[in-house]
Amino acid sequence: MNEEQRLQGQQIKGLKPLKPVKEKDYSQFFQSTPSLKDAKKRGKEDIQYRDDFKIDERFANMGASRKFYIRTYGCQMNEHDTEVMAGIFEQLGYEATDDVKEANVILLNTCAIRENAENRVFGELGHFKPLKLHNPDLLIGVCGCMSQEEAVVNKILKTYDQVDMVFGTHNIHRLPEILNEAYLSKETVIDVWSKEGDIIENLPKVRKGQTKAWVNIMYGCDKFCTYCIVPYTRGKERSRLPEDIIQEVRELAAQGYKEITLLGQNVNAYGKDIENRQYGLGELMDELRKIDIPRIRFTTSHPRDFDDYLIEVLAKKGNLVEHIHLPVQSGSSQMLKIMARKYNRETYLELVRKIRQAIPDVALTTDIIVGFPNETEEQFEETLSLYREVGFEMAFTYVYSPREGTPAAKMMDNVPLEVKKERLQRLNEVVGEYCGKAMKQFEGQVVEVLVEGESKRNANVLAGYTRKNKLVNFVAPREVIGQLVHVRITEAKTYSLTGEFIEVVTGHEVNN
Ligand code: 5AD
Ligand code: SF4
Repeated sequence: MNEEQRLQGQQIKGLKPLKPVKEKDYSQFFQSTPSLKDAKKRGKEDIQYRDDFKIDERFANMGASRKFYIRTYGCQMNEHDTEVMAGIFEQLGYEATDDVKEANVILLNTCAIRENAENRVFGELGHFKPLKLHNPDLLIGVCGCMSQEEAVVNKILKTYDQVDMVFGTHNIHRLPEILNEAYLSKETVIDVWSKEGDIIENLPKVRKGQTKAWVNIMYGCDKFCTYCIVPYTRGKERSRLPEDIIQEVRELAAQGYKEITLLGQNVNAYGKDIENRQYGLGELMDELRKIDIPRIRFTTSHPRDFDDYLIEVLAKKGNLVEHIHLPVQSGSSQMLKIMARKYNRETYLELVRKIRQAIPDVALTTDIIVGFPNETEEQFEETLSLYREVGFEMAFTYVYSPREGTPAAKMMDNVPLEVKKERLQRLNEVVGEYCGKAMKQFEGQVVEVLVEGESKRNANVLAGYTRKNKLVNFVAPREVIGQLVHVRITEAKTYSLTGEFIEVVTGHEVNN
């Protein structure tokens, strides 16, 4: 049998699949394969906005008597993609399940931002293998950011033969076709696009909650910070049209949602790619604040593109909450330069000063990476001093994790892992200290809480978040779940507040 016949044999249903030969070039097995190099090329083509998503009638009964289970890793963008995939599954007739043992399709929607996130996924794939023995109809799929990496796809093909399909972040609308192929084929179906596709406006969504909703405002990132894999896995920056976003937020308000989080990898670049329009995040927020919905947030900001007009609009408050997540990554200008963040310590502090002047009670939170290649003790201490100078109320802190294909992964690094871990611990002590201080200020105050449900630790206690995103636990009747309430804070802990329920909030401030 020659190579061509061997490969053809792999496509025919019923034929026993051949084990791939070691060191094989897998590209001949793929329908479309990921390439980080191709993903880096930013084309000039215009983005097409489409609303022609439709389930092909061939697939109308695909999900009859079948259940799906999706496990989501990583950021809100992934959580929201899961809501879209859940919407597609339901249109195909599948039912959702929380029990992997019951599922006919298991999807892992993965995150590539750090190595430990990837290791968790590989571990989970190992656990799912025995399920296949009990359920021959079971399909296992890997999607999300990890699928966009060549090395990951090769590893899955070599080591995880329980995986039936791998697809990426740019083609989740092709889920019906991918499932169909996976049912017909004995081989792992690979459908990963290195280049982003169109923006499809009418994809179905099954939102996770009825109180808070995520709304994408843009996709991708063009910043190419030297440590970050996102610009490769999520493609170039593409903004949704303002009218589509405004319409979606209006609909969510009419459905009774109380809080919207606008999503993008770099929301401050919103609108820059829309031709012939002078329209940015400031303009968008200025329109959204007129919608009758209690709270609007956005994430994630990049300090470089945070402009004065946005600050002016945020200062109008109303439903625009006084909390800004503003990742700084490092307090050292030298480190920031090597990270290619395009701002320095001074310009970051100047931005903070401007924001505080316009919104004196703003809560600022941040992301920080410690142990970037060759970070010195002095440079790390600059991060600690910047933290204190700004007085962040909370931070997500990480040890640098090299990501294959990024410029930083090629840098020599003289900082031992032990030192990096010790720096993380020292930073986290400062984070705890400042978080505790910020919490303490609320003691005795009455705050507005959006009630999410039972507290994770105690079913008799309810939990929710303030406008500044502080977690509040309190005892109240279950009927207030999903509502805005007033709570008097009786005790501040380091990372949460405890209080007494006062009343349901009847009106909220809206700017017209
Ligand atoms: N290693 C560690 N942390 C990272 N982040 C992004 N890439 C890496 C990496 N390679 C962090 C940044 C970012 C957050 C979402 O994840 O702090 O803001
Ligand atoms: Fe990554 Fe954020 Fe930098 Fe974009 S702006 S490259 S998502 S860290």
